[in-house]
Amino acid sequence: MAMSIKYKFITDLNQVEIMRQIYNNNLDALSTKEKLKYKTSAEQINWWNNLDHTKVMSWLYYDENDKPIGFLLLTDRGRFNTPMFAIFKEEWGKGYGARIIQDYILQSTKPLAGSQLQSNKAICHLNKKFGWMIISSENGVDYLFRPEYYTYNDICVYHGIKNDL
Ligand SMILES: CC(C)(COP(=O)(O)OP(=O)(O)OC[C@H]1O[C@@H](n2cnc3c(N)ncnc32)[C@H](O)[C@@H]1OP(=O)(O)O)[C@@H](O)C(=O)NCCC(=O)NCCS
Repeated sequence: MAMSIKYKFITDLNQVEIMRQIYNNNLDALSTKEKLKYKTSAEQINWWNNLDHTKVMSWLYYDENDKPIGFLLLTDRGRFNTPMFAIFKEEWGKGYGARIIQDYILQSTKPLAGSQLQSNKAICHLNKKFGWMIISSENGVDYLFRPEYYTYNDICVYHGIKNDL
């Protein structure tokens, strides 16, 4: 699908507030290991001010009319990075999610780890499409890993064709 999408680093509190609105708009889908709680503006600002900005990169995404549509956080957790992103519900299904995934794969200089709700069919589909592997599953949650670089062997195993070669 042809679309124009822009992103900017989150640097000011107006953007932090828009991120809060997107987050609150997607609470159910974002809760995997633990249930996430609605955030007030004051809680969001407090969270932002206490964030270790040397470890967390954050972007807000805009459509071609400069309307905010989503956010992305990429957190350095030592041996790997974890992404977290969401899109306003009314903007789902336009290809933005796939684009944001490709962006964090390119931005990440480490392997990626994360989790997905098995009931979130769109994210399960996209994660598989972009090379995430399920390491384990528990209580409706899949735990995921994505190597920074795929070797030829990884790709064969991932596509289940190793024994056919
Ligand atoms: C998951 C999310 C990011 C997807 O964003 P999006 O902009 O709608 O994604 P896209 O339009 O790029 O792609 C959606 C894909 O899911 C597929 N999909 C949608 N519903 C599906 C379903 N029920 N079963 C299988 N696939 C489904 C679509 O076909 C599409 O895949 P395709 O491009 O290969 O055809 C968005 O729904 C969201 O913000 N969810 C809440 C937060 C979240 O889950 N964040 C990710 C975890 S951190």
